[in-house]
Amino acid sequence: MVAASGLAPPRAAALCPRTRGAPRPVLLRSVQPVALPPSRLRCCASSMDDGAVSAAASNPIIPRVAGMGAKLVGCGSAIPSLSVSNDDLSKIVETSDDWITARTGIRHRRVLSGDETLGGLSIQAAQKALEMAQVTADEVDLVLLCTSTPDDLFGGAAQVLTGAGCTKAFGFDITAACSGFIVGLITATRFIKGGGIRNALVIGADALSKFVDWTDRGTCILFGDAAGAVVVQACSADEDGMLGFCIQSDGNGQKHLNARTLNDESILSKTNGVPGFPPRKASYSCIEMNGKEVFRFAVRCVPQSIEKALEEAHLPASSIDWLLLHQANQRIIDAAASRLDIPSDKVISNLANYGNTSAASIPLALDEAVRSGKVKTGDIIAVSGFGAGLTWGSAIVRWG
Ligand code: ACO
Repeated sequence: MVAASGLAPPRAAALCPRTRGAPRPVLLRSVQPVALPPSRLRCCASSMDDGAVSAAASNPIIPRVAGMGAKLVGCGSAIPSLSVSNDDLSKIVETSDDWITARTGIRHRRVLSGDETLGGLSIQAAQKALEMAQVTADEVDLVLLCTSTPDDLFGGAAQVLTGAGCTKAFGFDITAACSGFIVGLITATRFIKGGGIRNALVIGADALSKFVDWTDRGTCILFGDAAGAVVVQACSADEDGMLGFCIQSDGNGQKHLNARTLNDESILSKTNGVPGFPPRKASYSCIEMNGKEVFRFAVRCVPQSIEKALEEAHLPASSIDWLLLHQANQRIIDAAASRLDIPSDKVISNLANYGNTSAASIPLALDEAVRSGKVKTGDIIAVSGFGAGLTWGSAIVRWG
């Protein structure tokens, strides 16, 4: 059955509590910490001895017995220097400040320029988060770089952790578009609760400006670049800050939002008779989006996902101090808040200044809210991301 929106209903497997007819859930609270002898768990950084791995390579993860909780203890963010206003865009495409503001709530966005890189922003955001958490870089065990636009196709986490001085950490990239940060946050807490990781850095960073068609007024008005980070730390079970979560995916909606691989012409002119060879060099299309379908998907699935995460946390919606959604469109945020019956003074929004910064939007908004004194230690925050894939997910977290 296809829903009225044209998207398949969300029947994708959900990692969250079991409801009638839903797929088997992943059990979230039953694992007990077990101290395994280091010899069983120690992993090798590398057996290479030919100089391919630098002396600065991260040390192997040395397992330690961790507590059963994971709490959020620091945040940071970084934005590019170039600000592009709606009026600036109206000089490039046929649009206006009035139209963009009314339809999206966005007024400005930041865009990478000059020598700025996504890796550089990620390092800045990570360092600020570590400073707030009072954790030194060499105390970090795990770095998750949540991005769909790394500086290097093979991933940017290793460079970012080295640049941030996290010499003892292992890191890797997580690609889940605008849901990336939520997926990273949940992954970090799973690693911590599994034991062996004390401090994890979760960085959400994206530079969608590199994949926007700046002649397409339907998409170019939406996106901006940024990085945000949080430090997640092992703690005792009663301090646990990850109270419940739910993540889902459904490839049926990929046609509505994507940046596809394109097969360009081969760079070799002579194939010397080898059939089908060489393979064609690949590049990516610009972001292609059916805005109306994505809008409908978000308004339907985000409240459902938050409700599932609340159910797992055994909390009512009224216990939420702050609602923090992926900053895509103010109308989506307002619709979700209204469905959950959450008043507007409990809704965090900063998209007017930054637009949709994909995986960066949640930690960027969280960082502003914490540093401005809005979000305080002990506050319960419902965070929810959604986007390409399609992917979406929510977490109920306690700050600090
Ligand atoms: N300026 C002026 N007019 C415009 C613009 C513009 N920038 N863009 C579109 N229009 C016009 C259209 O051409 C159309 O004109 P017509 O009626 O003459 O055909 C009219 O405005 C309405 O266009 P719609 O596309 O129907 O406008 P809509 O109200 O749906 O708003 C928007 C478009 C803002 C993109 C909205 O659909 C949206 O925000 N969708 C969700 C996007 C999103 O959340 N993405 C998140 C994931 S991102 C990720 O994962 C990478």
